[in-house]
Amino acid sequence: MFTDSHCHLTFPEFADQMDAVRAAMAAAQVDRALCICTRLEEFDEVQALAARYDNFWASVGVHPDTEDTLEPSVDDLVRLAARPRVVAIGETGLDYYQMEERKGGRSIADLEWQRERFRVHIRAARQTGKPLVIHTREASADTIAILKEEGEDGSAGAAGGVFHCFTETAEVARAALDLGFYISFSGILTFKKAQDLRDVAAFVPLERMLIETDSPYLAPVPYRGKTNTPAYVPYVARQIAELRQLPLEAVARATSDNFETLFKGVLQ
Ligand code: NI
Repeated sequence: MFTDSHCHLTFPEFADQMDAVRAAMAAAQVDRALCICTRLEEFDEVQALAARYDNFWASVGVHPDTEDTLEPSVDDLVRLAARPRVVAIGETGLDYYQMEERKGGRSIADLEWQRERFRVHIRAARQTGKPLVIHTREASADTIAILKEEGEDGSAGAAGGVFHCFTETAEVARAALDLGFYISFSGILTFKKAQDLRDVAAFVPLERMLIETDSPYLAPVPYRGKTNTPAYVPYVARQIAELRQLPLEAVARATSDNFETLFKGVLQ
């Protein structure tokens, strides 16, 4: 009934936990999950999960925050995206959050490598026709600008994709929707201080919305601070249902249908 559009099940938190994770998913009626790759070194393991379990799929990509890692070329991504059950390119994007603390005082101008890496992913997505999973933090203007420069304006031939773990304003959501992208909400939506984000979730059309856990991070209330798992994605759906005064089933169905529409590969 529910679909978790973004989780990291190869992270150490889940080592030897897959039976428990899958049992909890089944009990919570979470039928499907997209396993997200953040480094090329991790890809084999992510893809193996999707190959082993018929309700898991995989992405291929290198996260913008990962620095000491293999740098992907367009050809690398295209080749790996052809492996079975890989339905998306990412996660990719831009992250300018806490430059001082997290980037050793470098400036945004110094992060040209991030922008270049993002362009590589967009080109691979366009070549393969597989949608992008986009991470953007404090970098929305550049994210939108680069997508447009690379031809991702919602026109024919665009790869499209999703802005995952959305935490930006309604204006940024509007810009992403205008480029043909979907918006995915995480457990952050349930946090007490996230009223602004709840207002955004009330505005994004249901037919362009996905839900996710981003597990092991960002567990929704009432599990905030604990290890997140795909089994908790219904709490995100419940928050959206409450905001929009819809039955929970309607949110579950819409976000699951949207997942199939966006990631066409899950139906093959
Ligand atoms: Ni993620």
